Amino acid sequence: MNQPLRHLLQIEGLQPPQIAAMLDLAESYVLLNRSGKTQRDLLRGRTMISLFFEDSTRTRTSFELAGKRLGADVINMSVSTSSVNKGETLLDTAATLNAMNCDLLVVRHDQSGAPALLAQKVDAAVINAGDGTHEHPTQGLLDALTIRRRRGRLEGLVVAICGDVLHSRVARSNIHLLTAMGSRVRVIAPPTLIPPEVERLGVEVFHDMKAGLQGADIVMALRLQKERMARGLVPSAREFFRFYGLDAAKLAWAKPDALVMHPGPMNRGVEIDSAVADDPVRSLIREQVEMGVAVRMAVLDLLARRTHRND
Ligand code: NCD
Repeated sequence: MNQPLRHLLQIEGLQPPQIAAMLDLAESYVLLNRSGKTQRDLLRGRTMISLFFEDSTRTRTSFELAGKRLGADVINMSVSTSSVNKGETLLDTAATLNAMNCDLLVVRHDQSGAPALLAQKVDAAVINAGDGTHEHPTQGLLDALTIRRRRGRLEGLVVAICGDVLHSRVARSNIHLLTAMGSRVRVIAPPTLIPPEVERLGVEVFHDMKAGLQGADIVMALRLQKERMARGLVPSAREFFRFYGLDAAKLAWAKPDALVMHPGPMNRGVEIDSAVADDPVRSLIREQVEMGVAVRMAVLDLLARRTHRND
């Protein structure tokens, strides 16, 4: 195993044994959570601050729950996104957080690289909870854990990631993680929603759902991120659904037992049909949320081991 992690800013660059160790630890937290036991002494006396410059439901709540389940003092700082000069605010915020002796800092920001910048300025261990279109490492880990628990492995699986890959930090973290662990990753989207040179990340690119879904074990739908589109990259939501929306007819092109994922929040009827999203056999969407708490407990646990307090 490599050097222990100081921050979790991205999946890119992590080694397979590091990823596997995080998934194993998260797995033990799934069992702990299901058994109804807690481990509140683990982070007792530690402070976790979450700082979200962008909206969030699942990520923010599950980090809060994860911190509390391990006994940390959890503080959610609410940040107004619109009226601030972001560079200045970030650095001011860093100074404030440092003065509060924060141990773990969970940051979501609409600018790619913001958590990495903060990590240079604070003593706390920084966890990227999603930065712009860059990465969302805990989402990548929770998706991998969900897949691994269902399929028993990641290696050799064909994973098709469909929709707005261009703006998706979830797609990027998943691509880095799954290719590192030996999955065969495909991205399927109209040309306007594929990042330039994405093949360099080791994925196969498809513009046609039928071709891309053939033989897929896992089909991951992504939200159409309108808030990150300066101009119309798709003709209309209706048109997008017709060609790329995951419904039962398109899912039938994948393997007969293919499983469906979505990081949420979902736009039903845009990138995914309700019947598929709510299918109790094929859809893993609720399980992804459950895994999110366990993965975040594992990450907080690992990073807290690196921060030593003298008081
Ligand atoms: C994602 C995000 O914020 O990157 N949501 C999440 O964390 N589960 C995906 C999205 O916003 O579409």
